[in-house]
Amino acid sequence: MSRITSTRWPIEPHTAAKHAILKKYLHAWLPIMSSRGGSINYVDGFSGPGEYTGGEEGSPLIAIRAIVERATPLAAKCTLTFIEADRSRYEYLAQKIAGITLPNNVRAGCYCDRFETIMTAELDRLEGEGNVIAPAFVFIDPFGFSGVPMSLIRRIMNNPHCEVLITFIYEELNRFISLESLWPAATALFGNDEWRRVMNVTESRLRESTLHGIYQTQLRAAAGIRHVLSFKMKNRSNTTDYFLFFGTNHILGLKKMKEAMWNVDESGSFLFSDNTHNPSQPVLFQQEPDFGLLKHLLLARFRGSAPTVGELEEYVLTETPFRETHYKRQVLKPMEQTEEIRVRCPRRDRRKGSFPEDCIIEFP
Ligand SMILES: C[S@@+](CC[C@H](N)C(=O)[O-])C[C@H]1O[C@@H](n2cnc3c(N)ncnc32)[C@H](O)[C@@H]1O
Repeated sequence: MSRITSTRWPIEPHTAAKHAILKKYLHAWLPIMSSRGGSINYVDGFSGPGEYTGGEEGSPLIAIRAIVERATPLAAKCTLTFIEADRSRYEYLAQKIAGITLPNNVRAGCYCDRFETIMTAELDRLEGEGNVIAPAFVFIDPFGFSGVPMSLIRRIMNNPHCEVLITFIYEELNRFISLESLWPAATALFGNDEWRRVMNVTESRLRESTLHGIYQTQLRAAAGIRHVLSFKMKNRSNTTDYFLFFGTNHILGLKKMKEAMWNVDESGSFLFSDNTHNPSQPVLFQQEPDFGLLKHLLLARFRGSAPTVGELEEYVLTETPFRETHYKRQVLKPMEQTEEIRVRCPRRDRRKGSFPEDCIIEFP
C-alpha cells in the first residue's frame, strides 16, 4: 500500500470489500451486544477522514449508519470512539460527524492522537478504577505496521466481550522487514522475535504463510484470543496486500463474522482480489463453497471415531473456514446415502438426512 499524504484518497475495491465485511458484521453485532442493555463501545482506532474522494463513506460513517438507520433503537448506551492521528483527516471527520444527529443513547467522540496513546490511557484508567471495558468492538486499520503492538491487543482482549478486527499490513511488512530500523516495530507487532524466521525464506508464498502463521499463532498464544479468522485482500497486481484478522472469544461472534466474510467471498477461500474484481462484469455463475474440501477435512479429522453432531459442528466452526450451515445437507446427507457414515440417534423418529445435535456420526 503506497503512502497517502492527502486528507482524502480514492477508495480501492478491496477497501469496499473490507467495508462490506465491517457493515455486515456490525449489523449483527450491535443488536446482539446491546440486547442486555448496559453499555457497548465501538472503537475505530485508525479512523481516517470518514469519506473517500468519490464520496464513498469511510469506516466511521459506516458504523454510525449501522446505528442511526436501525429500524429498532439499540437497547444499550453506545459510545463511538474515533481516533485519527493526522490533523486534517481528524478535522474532516469531526466536521462530518458534527452534521449527524445521533440517537439520545449514542455518543460519538473524535480524538486527534495515536491509537496506542488513547487506548492505553483508557485501559490504564479502567484498570486503575478496578473496572473492565464494556463490551467493545475495536477496529484497527492502519496504513503500516507500527503502532499496533501485540501487548495492546492482549490488554484489550483481556476484557470480557471484546473483539478486534485488525488490518495486518502484509505487503509493506514483507517488503521492508530487512530494514533494521523497523525491527523494533516488527517485534512489537508480533509480540516476539519469531518474525525473524522469514529472513531466510526467499519463496514468496512461503514468506507469506510464515508471517501470516506467526501472527495468527501470536493472536491466540500471546493475546489469548480463542477464535481467530483471517481474510486475504489482494491488490490490482493480484499479490497479497493485507489480511483482515478477526479475534473473538465467543462462538456467536465467530459465526457472525464467518457469515460476513462468506458474504464477500462466496467461494470460501476468504480472499478478495482487486485484480479479478470487475463490477461491470457480474459473475453469472456464483462460485460454490468447496464441499469436497469440507468432506476431506471431516474425514481426516474424524475417521475411525464417532463424534456427536454438536462436536462435529464445533470443529467445522472453529477449525475450518466453513460455516455451521455448510456441513449437514451438503456433506453428511450424501455421505449417509452412500453409507460412508452411519448415524445413531437417540430419537426414533429421526428422518434420514436430518442431523439433530445429539446424534452420533460413525466414521468407519
Ligand atoms: C487505512 S486508513 C483508515 C481508513 C478507515 N479505517 C476506513 O476504512 O475508512 C489509516 C488512517 O490511520 C491514520 N493513522 C496513522 N497512524 C495512526 C496512529 N498511530 N493512530 C491513529 N491513526 C493513525 C492515518 O492518518 C489514516 O487516516
